[in-house]
Amino acid sequence: MNSITIQPAVSVKGEIIVPGDKSISHRSIMLGALAHGITTVHGFLRGEDNMSTMHAFRAMGVEINDDGKTIQICGRGLHGLKEPDDVLDCGNSGTTIRLISGLLSGQSFFSVVTGDQYLRKRPMKRVVEPLTLMGARIAGRNGGTLAPLAINGGPLKGIDYQSPVSSAQIKSSLMLAGLYADGETKVTEPSLSRDHSERMFKFFGASLTRNENGVTVRGGIELTAQHVTVPGDISSAAFFMVAALITPNSELLIKNVGVNPSRTGIIDILQAMGGDIKLLEQREISGEPVADILVRSSQLKGISISGDVVPRAIDEFPAICVAAARAEGVTTIRDAKELRVKETDRITAIAGNLRTLGITVTEIEDGMDIIGSEQLLGGTVDSCGDHRIAMSMSVAALVASSAITVTDIGCVATSFPTFFTLLEKTVGK
Ligand code: S3P
Repeated sequence: MNSITIQPAVSVKGEIIVPGDKSISHRSIMLGALAHGITTVHGFLRGEDNMSTMHAFRAMGVEINDDGKTIQICGRGLHGLKEPDDVLDCGNSGTTIRLISGLLSGQSFFSVVTGDQYLRKRPMKRVVEPLTLMGARIAGRNGGTLAPLAINGGPLKGIDYQSPVSSAQIKSSLMLAGLYADGETKVTEPSLSRDHSERMFKFFGASLTRNENGVTVRGGIELTAQHVTVPGDISSAAFFMVAALITPNSELLIKNVGVNPSRTGIIDILQAMGGDIKLLEQREISGEPVADILVRSSQLKGISISGDVVPRAIDEFPAICVAAARAEGVTTIRDAKELRVKETDRITAIAGNLRTLGITVTEIEDGMDIIGSEQLLGGTVDSCGDHRIAMSMSVAALVASSAITVTDIGCVATSFPTFFTLLEKTVGK
């Protein structure tokens, strides 16, 4: 198993571009495949998760070309996919398996979706249950709650679904099923999760209306191919924002980052902690807000994090917890139970690793309390096979009193294959 040892740094400086947004990259392949005409995608993230999506659509007869710069997807229309010859392996990607389960529910063929050892433990009932209400026929392990899932595609009907959790994966799965359903499919969530599907559905010409935390999709409307430019992933930028904030003498410009308001919880939280973060050159590209982000070293203070900001920062908690470990005072995190069903149980993984580094953490069911410290110890921490745990612990190493070894770092390739190269480029030793 791969590991890396990272030494403390004296600064984090320079100008970087982080790779394309993972969520938008997934959706560009999916909608491109279902549209009529050729969709081109610039800035596509070639991480393992997105390659799982690409392979799944190729296995369903979609021609997808990659010349190293641009992805070209030859759309087959809503009803042009073919039955895959084999099981669709979604690897580590929750987005791939949950979103395509919705799409596959409406096809006129049979399919099986599965994933790696981590994905096969993650809850699928959250999509299987509402899809079944729409008429989907899905079987799976453990009473249809765990992958592999076997999907007998067929006719669907629209439903009005109140999701118990704020989850873009649930919402998007039902929206994709809704493209095939008779009538309207409405999904409402407790607070708004990332709305890339809503934006991209509109961009591709779907019939869609929105109200506060709800979206309604009308079935049977064909989509039209588009040119998509994917902005940099704010979830990847987050590790560098925290790195520059906590490391003294730092000033980092992260260019071309997606700043969709449903994703900028990380900026709101770090600014509330006292972080010097500025958004420059704000603009809109392919229906998504984009900016350059300037970050300078700051003395952070502990804050309370709960409520609507949580889904807007859901993937950033590993990085936020590292910032909290270095902040003055206590940071409390609540309403974040979803962290327990990510690539690993992130509450337990972060708490365990921060304790190894000498930080006092109290773990509770839906969050944790972290007592910040000026002193972070070196040592060995484990990624638990989770890319975001691996990257956040690597950032912690920059301010530890001695080196930190992070084990099992192969997972970083799922979302940010160039992470360690960029880190090396920006840290002063
Ligand atoms: C994603 C949604 C989020 C997020 C994941 C990507 C998406 O999951 O954690 O990394 O692209 O829709 P949930 O919707 O389950 O919160």
